[in-house]
Amino acid sequence: MSVGAQTVGRTPGVGATATVKVPATSANLGPGYDCAGLALALTDTLEARLLGDGELEIDVVGEGADSVPKDDSHLVVRSMARGFAEADAHIPGLHLTCHNVIPHGRGLGSSSAAIVGGLVLARELMPDGHRILTAERLVSLATELEGHPDNVAPAVLGGMTIAWTHEAGGRAIRISPNPRLQPVVAIPTEPLATQRARELLPAAVPHADAAANAARAALLVPALTNHLELLHEATHDLLHQDYRRFAYPQSHALVTALRALGIPAMISGAGPTVIAIGVSDTGLDGQAVEAAVVKALAAQGGSATSDFRVEQLAVANDGAVAI
Ligand code: HSE
Repeated sequence: MSVGAQTVGRTPGVGATATVKVPATSANLGPGYDCAGLALALTDTLEARLLGDGELEIDVVGEGADSVPKDDSHLVVRSMARGFAEADAHIPGLHLTCHNVIPHGRGLGSSSAAIVGGLVLARELMPDGHRILTAERLVSLATELEGHPDNVAPAVLGGMTIAWTHEAGGRAIRISPNPRLQPVVAIPTEPLATQRARELLPAAVPHADAAANAARAALLVPALTNHLELLHEATHDLLHQDYRRFAYPQSHALVTALRALGIPAMISGAGPTVIAIGVSDTGLDGQAVEAAVVKALAAQGGSATSDFRVEQLAVANDGAVAI
């Protein structure tokens, strides 16, 4: 992709601006490997202003400020270009400011936020954007850019999503999660690359594990909507967390300790963040779960307490929106 270097189609005017907020996401939710996801109320804000042909200026504030590229390989810029290409348009020139708060490489969907944010910026800026980049098309394009659909779907649709891939690309359905869910995250200071985590998975799993996992994954939908009492059983995974435990030993130990207390805890996405779900008006509400996480980390000893940031993060009902 090269800003300003493509054939001119229906290119929007210089000076046009758009600002988009896009949420963090937690994918997998235990057994829903590569399909289940939840949007979380931690949002990156992306601001775009179109400049004259070929000009490109990128400011990154917060997460990734010192590490992400500031050229046309920037993930938001590449995603914007992919969105514009849907209308045979191109970005003339661009000033992009990214206010990043979603931690990078922690399993909270920062790359999905960049991809979905870039596509939604394109939708806002280009002629006919809302007609061309429907929510369905956004999920499909974002899946193409990300490689799998489970993080991008909640970043587009908000709430809880079940996503899958089809010959025509990524697809997803949004489900309204129960408003009593009170997620708590324990975010390690050290990142883990999703690609490395994916390489740890075996090519095949025992049939009995696959069968048991299918039951738990199916249970996720009632458990997160109107059968909250099933949350602990529904979040039991047999496909990925144990295979990756050496890549995130402290997180794996934390999940194990919390689950032994009856708390629905799992690795968020490819890790290493841990997400545990409290339920309001019960003995294990968000506050109690947060206290249990802090206590379990202290019991792990060593540097566990200082190696994690623990906080409650509400479910985000909206996906990416223009503001
Ligand atoms: N489902 C992915 C994985 C992470 O666990 O590798 C999020 O896309």
